[in-house]
Amino acid sequence: MTASTPAPRLAGYAGVRSEVTSAKDVELVAEARTGTGLSELDRVLGGGLVAGSVTLLGGDPGIGKSTLLVQCLANLSLSRRVLYVTGEESLQQVTLRARRLGLPEDGLRLLAETRVEAILEHAAREKPDVMVIDSIQTIYTELLNSAPGAVAQVRESAARLVRHAKETGRSIFLVGHVTKEGALAGPRVLEHMVDTVLYFEGDPGSRFRVIRAVKNRFGAVNELGVFAMDDKGLKPVANPSAIFLSRHPEPVSGSVIMVVREGTRPILVEAQALVDTAHGNPRRVTLGLEQNRLAMMLAVMHRHSGIAMFDQDVYVNVVGGVRVSETAADLPVLLAALSSFRDRPLPSDMIVFGEIGLAGEVRPVSNGEERMREAVKLGFKRALVPGGNRPKSAIKGLEVHAVNRLHEAVDTVAELD
Ligand code: TYD
Ligand code: MG
Repeated sequence: MTASTPAPRLAGYAGVRSEVTSAKDVELVAEARTGTGLSELDRVLGGGLVAGSVTLLGGDPGIGKSTLLVQCLANLSLSRRVLYVTGEESLQQVTLRARRLGLPEDGLRLLAETRVEAILEHAAREKPDVMVIDSIQTIYTELLNSAPGAVAQVRESAARLVRHAKETGRSIFLVGHVTKEGALAGPRVLEHMVDTVLYFEGDPGSRFRVIRAVKNRFGAVNELGVFAMDDKGLKPVANPSAIFLSRHPEPVSGSVIMVVREGTRPILVEAQALVDTAHGNPRRVTLGLEQNRLAMMLAVMHRHSGIAMFDQDVYVNVVGGVRVSETAADLPVLLAALSSFRDRPLPSDMIVFGEIGLAGEVRPVSNGEERMREAVKLGFKRALVPGGNRPKSAIKGLEVHAVNRLHEAVDTVAELD
């Protein structure tokens, strides 16, 4: 398609002639899924790659987007036609990476191109089943005069690629750099156009990389995929429940192990708090958690347990750089702050989860038993949980303290040794 022959208007979602149908006549066919050879990527995609889907993979520069996708495409190249379009690195750089990682090269077709019209012409000839565009911010369309990376360019180029995927049934991955400055359009401007949005999160200093599905038309949101980065690229971590713990030889104040359930599996994560006398305005600083929620919970603790921290700075960090969005983190985070405030460690064999309400109640969370069983598997012996999550029958090897009110939780930890 060139500028002089504008694209015909797309009739239907899949590029076919549209017609009105009764819901009862719609045949449900399960989407065919293709394994990417990376189990944790399949997991965040919702069970493999769907034909004709467009997936946006966002993340900070250097986090591992190109590494992940070159691994994924090389794996797929053994059974599918693939095309890796690089707008950023040279063919040599991409090949060097693939070779260093020991990936199969025969079917790994590469194209260095940034003009979307040219990419679509090549795709029409190559007929790849799966195509990677690395990165969308380098791609431009000749229909617009603005510079590559400008919001309009990124949107229009992505729209052309999305349409191509829907018309042909090809799957496309779009790489998007998360940008701090406004010079390049960030991947957020594309979220509404694509089927699936995946973001890398996590601590760039750690060797673990976490990918979260923040939108998925074909699977669960907030699903996490966990990888370890080494000199052979990104390796899926099949059982990540213990990697976000920094096991201390001695119990330390301010550290609480919580069991969160991001996506479809429980993960044990350590919350660390530091509470110290404030000089000036007291600070509430969180890393990996919502700051307003911490402020709210500190108010609940003041009002319902009489513990005041208004003259204290409160810092809370989630170990490993993973972001916790679940309310099950309320109680452990508050107890971590309390532990630091009183300089009294919690037992190191204890896990905590539970939501806190403004009335000072401790509310149950979903899948309580599953969380406790995961903790037992990892050697934890005690659990402080909401009354509503008390297991129906005893869990072997686990002493359960179930509480309904915040002050009961505070009393319980005061009596523990
Ligand atoms: P890269 O995939 O280029 O990041 P992005 O495309 O998101 O900008 O990878 C970035 C980092 O990963 C780079 O700093 C080096 C590191 N790395 C490894 O540690 N091991 C490896 O096998 C590879 C390929 C990269
Ligand atoms: Mg890259």
